[in-house]
Amino acid sequence: MSSLSDLLMVRLCLLLWLLVKSVAAPDPAVVTMTVDDAACDIGGDDWRFDCFPQGTPAQTECEARGCCWRPPLKPRPPSPSGLTVPECYFPLDYQSYRTQAVSSSRGHGQVKATLTKGSPYPRDVRNIQADFFAHSTNVLNIQIRDADRERWEVPLLHNRRHCGRGQGSAWPGHAHSGHEMGAGNVLTFGDFLVTLSKPGQPFWFQVARTTGEILIESTGGFIYSDQLLQLSTTLASSLLYGLGERRGGLAVSANWTRVALWNRDHHPKENTNLYGTHPFYIARDARGWHGVLFLSSNALDVIVQPAPALTWRTIGGIFDIYLFSGPEIWAVTRQYTEVVGRPFMPPYWALGFHLCWQRYGTANNTRATMDRLRKFGIPQDVQWNDIDYAKGARVFTTDTEKFGNQVGLAGEIHSRGMHYIIMVDCGISNNATPGTYQPYDLGRQMEIFIKDLDGQPLVGRVWPGTTVWPDFTNGQSGRYWRKIAGDFHKKVAFDGAWVDMNEISSFADGSVHGCDEKNPLDVPPYIPGIADRELYKHSICHHGRHAASSHYNVHSLYGLLEANATYHAMLSIRGKRTLVISRSSFVGQGQVSGHWSGDNSGTWHDMHMSIPAMLQMNLFGVPFTGSDICGFFLNATEELCTRWHQLGAFYVFSRNHNSDTCRPQDPGQFGPASAASTRKALLTRYTLLPYLYTLLFYSHVYGDPVARPLFFQYPDDSRTQDIDRQFMWGPALLFSPILEPKQTSVLAYFPRDVWFDFYSGRRVPRSGQVVRLPAQYDVINVHVRGGSVVPMQSPGLTTTVSRELPFWLLVALDDDGEAKGQLYVDDGESLDTYERGLYNMVKFETQKNTLWSKPEFIGYHGNMNLSNVTVFGLQDMPTDVQVNGESVIYQFYDTVLYIPQVKVSLAKPFNVTWGGSE
Ligand code: NOJ
Repeated sequence: MSSLSDLLMVRLCLLLWLLVKSVAAPDPAVVTMTVDDAACDIGGDDWRFDCFPQGTPAQTECEARGCCWRPPLKPRPPSPSGLTVPECYFPLDYQSYRTQAVSSSRGHGQVKATLTKGSPYPRDVRNIQADFFAHSTNVLNIQIRDADRERWEVPLLHNRRHCGRGQGSAWPGHAHSGHEMGAGNVLTFGDFLVTLSKPGQPFWFQVARTTGEILIESTGGFIYSDQLLQLSTTLASSLLYGLGERRGGLAVSANWTRVALWNRDHHPKENTNLYGTHPFYIARDARGWHGVLFLSSNALDVIVQPAPALTWRTIGGIFDIYLFSGPEIWAVTRQYTEVVGRPFMPPYWALGFHLCWQRYGTANNTRATMDRLRKFGIPQDVQWNDIDYAKGARVFTTDTEKFGNQVGLAGEIHSRGMHYIIMVDCGISNNATPGTYQPYDLGRQMEIFIKDLDGQPLVGRVWPGTTVWPDFTNGQSGRYWRKIAGDFHKKVAFDGAWVDMNEISSFADGSVHGCDEKNPLDVPPYIPGIADRELYKHSICHHGRHAASSHYNVHSLYGLLEANATYHAMLSIRGKRTLVISRSSFVGQGQVSGHWSGDNSGTWHDMHMSIPAMLQMNLFGVPFTGSDICGFFLNATEELCTRWHQLGAFYVFSRNHNSDTCRPQDPGQFGPASAASTRKALLTRYTLLPYLYTLLFYSHVYGDPVARPLFFQYPDDSRTQDIDRQFMWGPALLFSPILEPKQTSVLAYFPRDVWFDFYSGRRVPRSGQVVRLPAQYDVINVHVRGGSVVPMQSPGLTTTVSRELPFWLLVALDDDGEAKGQLYVDDGESLDTYERGLYNMVKFETQKNTLWSKPEFIGYHGNMNLSNVTVFGLQDMPTDVQVNGESVIYQFYDTVLYIPQVKVSLAKPFNVTWGGSE
């Protein structure tokens, strides 16, 4: 059977059951049901929803849950994430809650339902209340709560509209959301048509587009117990992206994939939970694309199965689900970031090249590395120091004896027009002599640390030995963090912060005293498929107390909260934009920090995987992301490191960093040929920074991904669906790096469009197919899409220099001789320049042999000099080229027009014409 007819079949079966059950409704008290054979006949393996996720049960154990036990009809080997068709699955008539009442008002629908069948897990929620809110025309929020008790809810940093139990009115300010009453249990909210179960029926809902296409429909077994919440829904197609942080291909396979999410200090590896939690996916449907966010900070499993269907299974909180209607893929990411928060605007210097090593050991060594880069003419904007700067690895101290003159180092970095970032671990040492370590003493005084059950700070172990951790949900934590960071900043003038080990990572599993094995917060009745199947492994006990809740609930939020406190502390300390890079991340992280993909290794595979890692985060609204160039662990070879710098030069966040167990791998370490290649790649990056900055601006304002998968730009081209060896910057640039050893050419896919080689302007002869491109040792292939105007700038060795150099424009014509583009410019560091109107926005358009500039907004008065324009894709050599009506010199090679002396200000309208050849 095709999956469509399977779906129809299952819907039919379900409908029949709903009908039968609503007619002959049993007593509403909780009952134990026996399994009915017909209810186990669900129409194929693909529709089996696992009723025993703990493992493989005996038939009796399974049936004791009221579930069906049958060997698969077609046994199949486990998927890479270890799942296969479950033997124990929910019967069609698994009714856990019966609908009691349905009501609606403008912008809001509500279902009240009562437990009819206890789950196998302790403490079922008896009465539930499902609220459907029109967050906006294209965003629907579904919240399913305990109708009698408050439960943990994730506090989004931004835009959260609190409803509160029992409050049944429309959101303030959203009365325009287009809600209309439909037929009783059918409601329209903007773009969505919501169908709810009727009183007497099992609890159920469906969300479709108003144009009819079904997006999700609840199915499988619904469970709402205190520490196990499970909801399965149909998927509109088996093409979906997202669900991270996760290592692997871009698309999530619907072939029994489990994605476990729980922030964990774990080197990037396939099929395990990593540093961040982003339970958000984008899926294809019959009309376009839509997105779904399951806002949960508790450990969770997300199961995707071939039906296609998806199960959210978490161990705390409420069901808090957002649907984004798209229907264009770019609209989904805009809608998503509107809810979770748009990315911060980075300072311009952050776009330069960053360098770090865990084992510089001294300020002199750090300086020598910067000198080496200078010697090779390699651009660098930001120098970092890892925790080795700090005395005894205690954050916010400097080890003058061992590390030397860090104050002088910071001064020197600044005098070179560069910036300085230091490691800020969240673990605060508790073992210094009292009165000698302010971060601990002040924290104790302010009672800021996460508490153990006895009310004393919970103690674990990180680099400085025993440590405690600030509770960033404590209302005083911002003041505390600002004070200790600010006091240190008075000595060492750092410009940004690297917040690490914030999953929370601790070397003592749980605490120095272990955890309480009997405490259900430390050892809950069910643990999702996370690494080691232990919540507190390499972390702290989950009974730990924060002001807001237990660590059990707050854990995966911790990195976001630390990054938030650090970001705001740094803004207030410096009064200028800053850069915070966080390892741990959560939904909405992009508002306050960027991210790097953690402790990767110097292997070709890790280099390849850094591409989907960056693209995934860009879909989650965390554009400022990259991976450790050349790898953190293992010594990268010269060839690998050279190729990796070519790729890493085009990460949004471009940093080389490695571990103290490896030999140095800065770009000056591998001899002149490698250094020359890295210089070339980074100089290309630096010429493109005005374009990158403009993309970051659009990301800040609309949430658009900066680095994009090809499918994002060409969603209707099915050949782009799995491409993760190439990527784009915005709509104009395509990168096709070498990802394997000993290669001098690369196979690259070119979607059907006009493409030009970035360096030569030569047109790619074919598109809509794979093309073999040469790539000698010092080349990364970069292509420009015809139809784009790309703003560029002469490169310097720092952005401080390049910002003062003239701009260039690259005009790549499409087949109609047209092209468009934009340029955003501001001073690169003041706060809220866009919001305060201290910026310039210039639009460019090319038609009929003329390029026009249209300064749409001029509020910044710095360098806007344009020196040259290059045009790709001309058919014939022009006989005359004019700038604002005056003839100028030009050169023409093949199909490329080069105009070297344009000499106009981008802040004023101008035009360039080439013609006269007809
Ligand atoms: C772990 C981080 O992932 C790594 O990048 C860093 O070098 C070490 N912590 C030491 O601070």
